[in-house]
Amino acid sequence: MRLSVSRWQGVIAHYRDFLPVTEKTPIVTLHEGNTPLLRARWLEQLLDQKAEVYLKFEGTNPTGSFKDRGMTVAVSKALERGLTIGICASTGNTSASAAAYCGVAGMKCAIVVPAGKIAAGKLSQALAHGAIICAVHGSFDDALRIVRELTKELPIALLNSINPDRIEGQKTCVFEICDALGDAPDFHILPVGNAGNITSHWKGYREYFEAGRISQLPVMVGVQAEGAAPLVRGEPVPNPETIATAIRIGNPASWQGAIKARDESGGTIIAVSDEAIVDAYRLLARREGLFVEPASAASVAGLLKLAKEGYFERKFAQLKSERRVEREKPLIVCVLTGHGLKDPQTALQTFQLPEPLPPTVDAVKRAIEQVM
Ligand code: F0G
Repeated sequence: MRLSVSRWQGVIAHYRDFLPVTEKTPIVTLHEGNTPLLRARWLEQLLDQKAEVYLKFEGTNPTGSFKDRGMTVAVSKALERGLTIGICASTGNTSASAAAYCGVAGMKCAIVVPAGKIAAGKLSQALAHGAIICAVHGSFDDALRIVRELTKELPIALLNSINPDRIEGQKTCVFEICDALGDAPDFHILPVGNAGNITSHWKGYREYFEAGRISQLPVMVGVQAEGAAPLVRGEPVPNPETIATAIRIGNPASWQGAIKARDESGGTIIAVSDEAIVDAYRLLARREGLFVEPASAASVAGLLKLAKEGYFERKFAQLKSERRVEREKPLIVCVLTGHGLKDPQTALQTFQLPEPLPPTVDAVKRAIEQVM
């Protein structure tokens, strides 16, 4: 047993009734979950106080992204089944999480990643946790095809979100949001890559609704990067490209799940430009105190784009007439999926480090006076 001074014992311990575990399941946990839900005052000001906005910061999970919620379930179940090796394709975060949880479970881990396209922090994590790293000359979509075929032949646990255990664990993000707010928000915004998370979050809301824990379902808003927006275009993108490498995916595995979440919730999936992602990335770091990775900033880029178009006002008026919502203004949650430290290179390139100064009081004084 893991000893901990905190009462929080991870998402399986907390949400056991909603997860596919039994007394026989050995629980592999790093006490993931219980992440902050923060009120975004600066963003609300930008929206002219027309909405109440919260940010669910998943960067505080043990490996720095939401993937840990799914990985605790997927690796626990793999161990229960007696498997000794796990594998995943990844744009980085899944591999970091898989490597850490397999390590704790005493399992080996192999990761298949697009060569040269993984942010430095994520690759460092996979290396440090001892994963077997297979970087391929190809995209994430190629990597996923390879691990799918390989796991048909060999007794290896597939740890991507096409494994239903991953989807189950990731639902806990919305359980936490609902528990903190006392009900579901009106709008739930998140970035979409392979589309496992949007599939999982919608499933979570449905289950909480059916269990009587919430009185309404949110409108789901998925955000893709313009250069990697197959769900918006309605067809796979052969050579996806975006600064948000985590969601650089041209043919999402959970395509149908994303469409279902969008349509059943009356929501939308939109694309935002890399410039808009960088603007949101900067704003979150400078004003909300949250250093997230570019893919995570896509949520907020989507929020700002839709707010400008009057989407929330229009849609909220419709919700009010349908559901007798008593709130004055819409309650919106943006999920910030991963930590900014995952991708230090993008931060250094985007924010530009100034030249070093001579070691004198004068030089430092002049530098400070420039911003006063
Ligand atoms: N945000 C971050 C930080 C991610 O790492 C990912 C996916 C997403 C959003 C999108 O989630 O794929 O469920 O739609 N990362 C995967 C990986 C693909 O390999 O780490 P999704």
